[in-house]
Amino acid sequence: MTEMRANTKKLFIKTYGCQMNVYDSDRMADALAPQGYEPTGDIAQADLVLLNTCHIREKASEKVFSELGRLKELQSERRALGGDMMIGVAGCVAQAEGEEIARRAPVVDMVFGPQAYHRLPSMLARAEAQRHMHPSLKQAVIDTDFPEEDKFDHLPAPRKEVTIKRGLTAFLTVQEGCDKFCSFCVVPYTRGAEVSRPVSQVIAEARGLVEAGVKEITLLGQNVNAYHGVDGAGRAVGLGELSYLLAEISGLERLRYTTSHPRDMDDALIAAHRDLDILMPYLHLPVQSGSDTILKAMNRRHTAAEYMKVIEAIKTARPDMALSGDFIVGFPGETDKDFEDTLKIIADVGYASAYSFKYSTRPGTPGANLTHQIAEEVKNERLWRLQDLVNSQTTAFHASCVGKTLPVLIERPGRMPGQVGGRSPYLQAVHLEGSTDLIGAIHQVEIIGTSTNSLVGRLRQAQVA
Ligand code: SAH
Ligand code: SF4
Ligand code: F3S
Repeated sequence: MTEMRANTKKLFIKTYGCQMNVYDSDRMADALAPQGYEPTGDIAQADLVLLNTCHIREKASEKVFSELGRLKELQSERRALGGDMMIGVAGCVAQAEGEEIARRAPVVDMVFGPQAYHRLPSMLARAEAQRHMHPSLKQAVIDTDFPEEDKFDHLPAPRKEVTIKRGLTAFLTVQEGCDKFCSFCVVPYTRGAEVSRPVSQVIAEARGLVEAGVKEITLLGQNVNAYHGVDGAGRAVGLGELSYLLAEISGLERLRYTTSHPRDMDDALIAAHRDLDILMPYLHLPVQSGSDTILKAMNRRHTAAEYMKVIEAIKTARPDMALSGDFIVGFPGETDKDFEDTLKIIADVGYASAYSFKYSTRPGTPGANLTHQIAEEVKNERLWRLQDLVNSQTTAFHASCVGKTLPVLIERPGRMPGQVGGRSPYLQAVHLEGSTDLIGAIHQVEIIGTSTNSLVGRLRQAQVA
């Protein structure tokens, strides 16, 4: 273990975007701990601020520039008091626009992409050396290469004491990057090619999390079900097989994974849903559109009917499977009929929840060159109609749970004194009357009602094994 430096410095990380960024932010904190950096929740105290950015939609980079403007003021205040603050930009905007950020915002000391996080300590050392230079000579440290080496081989394991503080559920990135190249999406450019972590590395990290008290792990990947990590014999193992291996870890009670691509929902993974109680009956399986014309233009490489076939197979394996999805409205060329097909697929599937977005042109993607852009009012109207349908499905799904008894992982004190809160297998928030002694285990809870985005329950019995 690397020795901690005596005088502790404070680190503040602001995280935008998906769960993989949440995971990455924690790993950056882990990588900086040996440098003497401790996380703080108070940005005004921070010696180093990192923005972990997202590039997926809209004016994401503009958000970063306005945040940097605010940080510049904060930095001046710190300097006036004799202190200082270093600033780094990480994540997908950094990967896509590293040079531009350094040029437009000289306040930034470091700009680096998601594949360079293991090099953070050395970047920091270089950036610190720069600070003593004359401002005219100062240059931001930029690292947006896709390195040969695997960052996971070089990043320290999650720190146990931090994991304990984080609680009962944890993310674990098993796969990164994307080779699918959907025509609207920046991820293949910001995260690079699909890479899977070796099985032994995943198991070791999962064991460490469980030893630190984690009961539920969510495996992460931009295409998590394309996972194909090698085992000790050099054989590629899929996500289905990996789930059986993780199910053997004693003390691990729940397993989830996100985000999946319909094309990679293979038989082994579907069988794992049939066989493994640990694998939760909730699946996020984005389809984006219900129109074959639009799916083709999006380069999703499957039809609406093929998606429905996958859904049927999953429901056969696990009849109580709750489904979630992502939808884009207003992709270039989307007609009223195409949009009606999307509403139809939503009606056919019956989602427990769904995320929907207006199409947003991303520079550098094939979609950016398409004509027939859809007017903003049309996008708004379609989004509103789609969300209305999905909301009614979510409400119906919550209502269908009333009267059932569900195992709930009690995670935290509730909003009111005397209440606790947790999650159902279907990822619904559940609130119930109960003592905080219940926190940390799965309890049988009878669902007696619903509120806007959650279920109300009543404790049925003492803890189940
Ligand atoms: N890998 C996942 C999605 C990652 S991005 C998958 O293949 O499903 C998360 C979601 O953001 C996507 O599912 C899509 O619905 C949305 N999204 C991505 N790019 C977008 C864009 N340019 N405009 C609007 N929504 C977008
Ligand atoms: Fe983006 Fe498509 Fe890859 Fe998902 S599968 S990350 S939407 S390119
Ligand atoms: Fe955003 Fe990058 Fe995740 S673009 S959604 S932070 S992979």
